[in-house]
Amino acid sequence: MRIVRLKKVDSTNLEAFRLLEETDFVVVSADTQTEGYGRNKSKWISSEGNIHLSIGKAVKVETVKHLSIYALYKVFGILRNYTQGKLKVKWPNDILLNGKKLAGILVESKIKGHKAKVVIGVGVNYAFAPIETGASLGGESNVLKGELEQSLVNALAGIFREQPDFAEILSFIEENSFFKIGDLIQMDSGGTLITGIFKGYSSDFAIVLESDGKELFFYSGEVKKVRKS
Ligand code: BTN
Repeated sequence: MRIVRLKKVDSTNLEAFRLLEETDFVVVSADTQTEGYGRNKSKWISSEGNIHLSIGKAVKVETVKHLSIYALYKVFGILRNYTQGKLKVKWPNDILLNGKKLAGILVESKIKGHKAKVVIGVGVNYAFAPIETGASLGGESNVLKGELEQSLVNALAGIFREQPDFAEILSFIEENSFFKIGDLIQMDSGGTLITGIFKGYSSDFAIVLESDGKELFFYSGEVKKVRKS
């Protein structure tokens, strides 16, 4: 595994993809990113003092299935050690501390036939919450940044060695879900807004909403809570 630590980069995900042209397994971390991004090409504000980390690997295409939720499970497993049970999972890829975003995960893949290059990017607001809707770990824990980064790398590298237990991952999302059964939630699915009652998650990790008497399954999209159950 090649480990690259940088002061500044455009995006650790982009750098990991570049390095995957010449190596098979890489970890990239940076103090700041000038073009850090999240899902749907949203900007990820990358303040110095926070964690910006990507792990990239050349894999078989089967590995890509549910990778994003698997990475979320791994990152949550590490962060929960420092947050006294205050974390929630906000489907599909966010980790909330006291209802505010502490960490975001972005999994990207480039597939060619049976092979894929995957990059798992993780941003953790370690020292600062760069936006009003964000939370930081500062104040919750005195874990050192380097120690936390190393634990995240070890946990994420495990993804490429271990067999995922999807039943366990599903229970984990159900137990730690920010959305509770009966909440009224709004889904933004590619610009179309759908409001419905949260019914739970399917075994293949869709979020399930009831709207106009129908059950709808979404595999991607942005969700917000409109009213608690
Ligand atoms: C999201 O919330 O939509 C995901 C945010 C992911 C941000 C991380 S920071 C490290 C890596 N590099 C990026 O440009 N993005 C990810």
